[in-house]
Amino acid sequence: MKTLGLSARAAALRPSPTLAITAKANSLRAEGKDVISFAAGEPDFNTPDSICEAAIDAIHKGFTKYTPSAGTKDLKDAIVSKLATENGLTVATDQVVVSCGAKHSLYNVMQTLLEPGDEVILLAPYWMTYAEQVKLAEGVPVVIHCAAEAGFVPTFDQLKAAISPRTKMLVLNSPSNPTGAVLPRETLKEIAALALRHGFWVVSDEIYERLVYGVTPQCFASLGKEIAEQTITIGGVSKTYAMTGWRIGFAAGPKWVAAGMSHLQDQVTSNPTSFAQVGAAAAFRMPASSVETMRAEFEARRDIILAGLRAIPDVKVPTPEGAFYAFPDFSAYLSPEIPDDLALATYLLDEAEVAVIPGSVFEGPGHLRLSYAASRDNIQRGLERIEKAVSKLRA
Ligand SMILES: Cc1ncc(COP(=O)(O)O)c(C=O)c1O
Repeated sequence: MKTLGLSARAAALRPSPTLAITAKANSLRAEGKDVISFAAGEPDFNTPDSICEAAIDAIHKGFTKYTPSAGTKDLKDAIVSKLATENGLTVATDQVVVSCGAKHSLYNVMQTLLEPGDEVILLAPYWMTYAEQVKLAEGVPVVIHCAAEAGFVPTFDQLKAAISPRTKMLVLNSPSNPTGAVLPRETLKEIAALALRHGFWVVSDEIYERLVYGVTPQCFASLGKEIAEQTITIGGVSKTYAMTGWRIGFAAGPKWVAAGMSHLQDQVTSNPTSFAQVGAAAAFRMPASSVETMRAEFEARRDIILAGLRAIPDVKVPTPEGAFYAFPDFSAYLSPEIPDDLALATYLLDEAEVAVIPGSVFEGPGHLRLSYAASRDNIQRGLERIEKAVSKLRA
């Protein structure tokens, strides 16, 4: 029967508790409260000047018209050469599609490769967008719960058990949002072997690849020529170059898949913003050392947040090796009054004026996600407030 309501597709989307917490934190701030936020999903640094200048210059030169839908040749060349030199991955420009952020690239992948009923393996805790985008494409998320004690790394048996004849895809995110885990090369090789044996795609979201602390992340597609044919690599400029508002990301995969995504993009957004592409090309051409100050600062903050969390009795947290998040287990503080992590996050905002994201958002119940894209001073003060607030729950 005809109705004038939301489509079932739109109505089924889960509202983001992250936005609800952030909105509440902002309204408390507007009331003059000194809210400390561990909720940020973006670097608290400015985009480097040289990138801004390249984009401003492009505007002044009139580079303000449509470009090819899948991105300019210049930006695709910059991505191709970055993938070759930094990731050991050889691709041609027609294997790359530039989109309006890595989130858009992921959406294109799901829409281009999934059929209704196709199963997609997600490694929990995972970034909520993956599951929502799979469902938008009428796919079915199949979730592997990776144990905190194992550093959020799936075991071979868990991987094997999740595979069925309907498995079409597995999504990897290393370094991970929300856990900061970097998957060991051995695990990636196991996943590659399973993908080849059972015939499924691997979507490897490597957006945090340059924000790593003492480890070298492995580009999944560069494990071998065969697996590269079944892999879509996702990357972008948002996190590495503090460019979240520019909205530039990319997908790189087999030529025919790139063509499919490009045709989809033709009908949905056309090209990403012309002068933002010029800024992104400048970013990809910057030497790795140019973002070292930001990376080193994140590492120092990670050490502060880890020490602070581990000083809170009964809080367990594996060492995050990448991204800018810690994912501690606060389940020792749950009770009939504070029954879950959502209630705990609400309590911390009300009682301690500290904003954190509940772990259930990422299918990591009992945990909280703390972003350390915040000043050292705020991290220190925020942790002191958390410790004081949770100690009252014990008392
Ligand atoms: C794991 C992961 N992938 C992709 C993105 C999206 O990045 P972009 O800003 O390029 O859309 C995010 C942003 O939070 C993320 O955490």
